[in-house]
Amino acid sequence: MKILIANDHGAVALKFHLLRWLESQGHQVVNLGVDTEDRVDYPDQAALAVKEYFGGSYDLGIVCCGTGIGISIAANRFKGIRCALIHDSYTARMAKEHNNANFLAFGGRVDYKEPIEELLSVFLHAEFQGGRHAERVSKLDKI
Ligand code: RB5
Repeated sequence: MKILIANDHGAVALKFHLLRWLESQGHQVVNLGVDTEDRVDYPDQAALAVKEYFGGSYDLGIVCCGTGIGISIAANRFKGIRCALIHDSYTARMAKEHNNANFLAFGGRVDYKEPIEELLSVFLHAEFQGGRHAERVSKLDKI
């Protein structure tokens, strides 16, 4: 898969962790985020990620900030983006099966109870269920 990853200063270590794991799994990863802890603003990082996503043929965008909250809110302001702030393997699976999320958000300062690679793996191996979920998803862009 071709995946982009962007972050603010609250998630530099997490970004590199996810990036290395994804590459070890054979994915092509484009790093758009900041690589130092100098302060930046998460809305700007989300906008950068979404612009790149729509300009390239990406399969997934990943955005990270301290909590994952701000950057997911920002990404979801853009039409066509379905950014899921997942926090365990259940929400990881549902984000794909029900919501067909095209972006995931994580928090660099969050204490996840499961290994974060496991959450990503569950999402990447899940399949969108379509049917009534497709109807609901299509309504999102009409709101
Ligand atoms: C930055 O300090 C922090 O507010 C940001 O990374 C994020 O957690 C916002 O939602």
